[in-house]
Amino acid sequence: MLGYAVTDTVFLGPLEPWQADEFLAHTERGRDFLGPWLPWVDNVVDEAGALAFLRRYADLHQRDAGHIFGLRDDGHLVGGLVFRTFDVAAGTAELGVWLEPAATGRGLITRAADVLIEWAFRTRGIQRIEWLAATTNQASIRVAERLGMTREGVMRSAFPHRGERPDLEVWALLAEEHRGPVDPVAREERGDQ
Ligand SMILES: CC(C)(COP(=O)(O)OP(=O)(O)OC[C@H]1O[C@@H](n2cnc3c(N)ncnc32)[C@H](O)[C@@H]1OP(=O)(O)O)[C@@H](O)C(=O)NCCC(=O)NCCS
Repeated sequence: MLGYAVTDTVFLGPLEPWQADEFLAHTERGRDFLGPWLPWVDNVVDEAGALAFLRRYADLHQRDAGHIFGLRDDGHLVGGLVFRTFDVAAGTAELGVWLEPAATGRGLITRAADVLIEWAFRTRGIQRIEWLAATTNQASIRVAERLGMTREGVMRSAFPHRGERPDLEVWALLAEEHRGPVDPVAREERGDQ
């Protein structure tokens, strides 16, 4: 499998339209856990929906305007990360993430997000990475904190979702604030404090 090793068994790699079946099965396993927070889950209910979602990201990727990555443990898709927006000219991007419930609690998303943040800042010249989390989504807010992001405020009544309009916390990390990998082992290897 092409990819970046996040742990001995977990790889961050491509998630492409030809993998729509795998993506649909993954979404089914996570549906109840992910649905309250991620609007796209309600559109990925069959293979056509899964294909449309991945094709949209393939198109964004081709235009360098957004990117999607799969997180696989022992080859099984357990999570994903997206640059929902990626604007090199403006130097801004928005990162979103998810995991199947069985893959939570191991630091996988924090480490995988860190890999993408490094890539966006160091390789692509992005200056500001945003993270939007519903004010009630404590797990997501904890990840933003672990990544060293700053809470900038609340976007009220941000978008329609399941009959409500959630408020979203806006968190962000700037390139000059980024101190390198959050993983303590990686930090030690880099000689960071
Ligand atoms: C947001 C979400 C991905 C966070 O998952 P998570 O498992 O809490 O995040 P991580 O993979 O970074 O793991 C962190 C947990 O593993 C623990 N952990 C273990 N080893 C770790 C390590 N090496 N590094 C960091 N954390 C580690 C942490 O203590 C933490 O547990 P805690 O929250 O009980 O303190 C998950 O809750 C999710 O998919 N939610 C639904 C979708 C969603 O809300 N997405 C975000 C929308 S903005």
